[in-house]
Amino acid sequence: MEGSIVLFGPPGAGKGTQAGRISELTGKPQVSTGDMLREAVSRGTDLGHEAKSFMEAGLLVPDSIIIGLISERLKNDDAAEGVLFDGFPRTIPQAEALAEIVSVEAVISIEVPDDSIVERIVGRRMDPETGEIYHIRFKPPPEEVSMRVVQRKDDTEETVRSRLAAYHEQTAPLAEWYSTKGLLIRIDGNGSIDEVGNSIASKL
Ligand code: AP5
Repeated sequence: MEGSIVLFGPPGAGKGTQAGRISELTGKPQVSTGDMLREAVSRGTDLGHEAKSFMEAGLLVPDSIIIGLISERLKNDDAAEGVLFDGFPRTIPQAEALAEIVSVEAVISIEVPDDSIVERIVGRRMDPETGEIYHIRFKPPPEEVSMRVVQRKDDTEETVRSRLAAYHEQTAPLAEWYSTKGLLIRIDGNGSIDEVGNSIASKL
């Protein structure tokens, strides 16, 4: 398998927003554990039932579930030349498990302070038909879409605080872990969506 890319950063940093463009640039399919888990929850599968309470509380889903999910996903033909991971790995054990099965060629870390994160997440809206991500202030949905956009269940101010705490405690140490391997590319995530996208593109 060729090298994969990891999109890394706190909740709401803009990983999902930038993933489409990076996928197009690199030809690597986006593999988002958050999207896979939400799909399992909405289909009511066993995995969905197990993951739901963790997600709604803003906690990380246990490593064993996530590693199983990713191992299955990587068996698909489209993963043969590497993928773009979005929201995975999120703990050192997940990164160690990943290193056993895939070679990671770069980790793009989108860096945004906590204060901006809360505003980004609480204002996020999703188009359930296309999966497009909007923001009531920074990327308002077009009029024909605005009637059908929805808010994610875990996008409340209270849950964001738990997600940020989980990020600082369990996920942030991975930046150092990847940095010592010479793989971490730090991106200032404070600019506009286009500015952040251009900054990532210039490093790829
Ligand atoms: P997941 O879906 O991965 O959520 P997350 O990491 O918290 O990330 P988000 O999807 O909230 O944010 P994002 O960085 O993609 O930001 P976005 O582009 O949407 O995970 C959800 C849950 O699933 C977790 O809490 C956990 O329970 C579980 N889970 C998932 N993976 C797991 C794993 N590996 N291990 C264990 N548990 C796991 O942007 C946010 C908003 O900001 C949007 O409205 C957007 O329009 C706006 N925006 C984006 N960029 C900018 C910009 N530059 N300027 C202004 N606004 C911007």
